[in-house]
Amino acid sequence: AQSTELAGQHWVITAGPTMEAIDPVRFISNHSSGKMGYALASAAASKGAKVTLVSGPTQIPPPHDVKLVRIQSAQEMLYACRAAMANGADVFIGAAAVADFRMKDISDQKMKKTDDSNEMTLTLVKNPDIIATLASEKSAQCMVGFAAETNNVLQYAKGKLERKGLDLIIANDVSRQDIGFNNDQNQVTVLSKDQQWTPPKDAKTELAKALVQIIFDYQHTQK
Ligand code: C5P
Repeated sequence: AQSTELAGQHWVITAGPTMEAIDPVRFISNHSSGKMGYALASAAASKGAKVTLVSGPTQIPPPHDVKLVRIQSAQEMLYACRAAMANGADVFIGAAAVADFRMKDISDQKMKKTDDSNEMTLTLVKNPDIIATLASEKSAQCMVGFAAETNNVLQYAKGKLERKGLDLIIANDVSRQDIGFNNDQNQVTVLSKDQQWTPPKDAKTELAKALVQIIFDYQHTQK
């Protein structure tokens, strides 16, 4: 059922992997499916928010009632998010699996293997931390990140919340086979600086609705 709780709000959500070119035919990327970010975008839109979904390459059809901006690299993702939030935003959710590094120089021609060496060295440089950058620019009223961890999940997530200057962080235990990466099911704990919420393990589409509600309730406690 459509509701209008979020009418008048603008939510910007990142999803999927980023794809960092090596040369015209090769790239560095990761296995992020984009499912969680797309589910969050659909859930926010069905509550009446205007949603901009900034997405790396995924196999998922564009959600209804969402403005989809397709990008490849982390730098493109940052620019697209800034453009989407030029007039401000209520909520930013960073659900993308951003590549930590990109090529220092992308080769404009296909790189060739040579006969004189069995080794190949690529020089990489750090990508910008998109969510931390946007948080420092105060782009959205409420900044929400994800923390995928294999151990000390809540403790590391709390550290990321503080370091990146976020309002909420959604902690995900990726050591569990039954949830998370590339799975349809997920279980998470949402942390603010002094509260936490653990919605039940569920399909990502259902969990997304619960997360949108938690973010909405949090916004109201801050006012
Ligand atoms: O540092 P880590 O990758 O674990 O942080 C995860 C959170 O930070 C996610 O919300 C992710 O989308 C965001 N992130 C980002 N830009 C990066 C790295 C992570 O926005 N370069």
